[in-house]
Amino acid sequence: IVMRIVFAGPPGAGKGTQAARLIERLAIPHISTGDMLRAAVKAGTPAGQEAEVYMKAGQLVPDSTVIAMAIDRIQENDAREGFMLDGFPRTREQAEALEAAMKEADLSLDAVILLEVDDALIVERITGRRTDPDTGTIYHMTFNPPPAEILDRLVQRSDDTAEACAARLSKYHQDTAPIIPFYEERSILRRVDGVGNPDDVTARLIEALG
Ligand code: AP5
Repeated sequence: IVMRIVFAGPPGAGKGTQAARLIERLAIPHISTGDMLRAAVKAGTPAGQEAEVYMKAGQLVPDSTVIAMAIDRIQENDAREGFMLDGFPRTREQAEALEAAMKEADLSLDAVILLEVDDALIVERITGRRTDPDTGTIYHMTFNPPPAEILDRLVQRSDDTAEACAARLSKYHQDTAPIIPFYEERSILRRVDGVGNPDDVTARLIEALG
């Protein structure tokens, strides 16, 4: 069974939306380095203070910071039977560090799911995103409209501007895309079309996970 999973894809592809759905079925922790970094920023930790500047500009947080954070997290007790990493690895160096750490524990990844969405659709998905800070639920003003009674409390991420979005997309193609051949060489990459109704995407993901 597929239990140690990396969920990859461009910014705004729907990784967070789909991970929330899949995790209910899989009973493994959803580990999003973006969520962890946003929590660190909010808490004002040294790592958070360092990360904030990069994140707001749509740049990647330095490998050394993110690698330590992600590797520590997958070594926690709740991740012993498996995990779904979301947004990590995001560089070839991160992929190599993850592989080395897992090898040391005699483990390996079962699958890397690549959720594919064209750049042309990404900007609209990202600029229309709103999040409910109370529940963490992700909405979209057009594609997944929030109920009227919670509109007041919804927040927009500081990196969801058109400008930061363009930077994130270019970083994705430049720094993150090289992990695709890395995992293809290991025969664990599975491509899933992320365009269409979210329920259809979920069904495709479940099929891809076997
Ligand atoms: P992170 O939080 O990982 O952001 P991301 O990869 O840019 O991904 P997003 O959260 O933007 O998108 P998503 O794919 O989860 O899409 P969502 O489901 O919300 O990282 C943020 C920052 O942290 C990075 O820029 C970097 O600075 C730093 N960072 C994190 N990890 C790092 C690492 N490993 N190394 C270095 N730096 C790191 O969906 C988007 C919108 O589309 C929503 O509004 C949703 O409602 C809508 N939507 C979802 N599905 C559909 C659909 N099927 N049809 C229409 N709309 C849809």
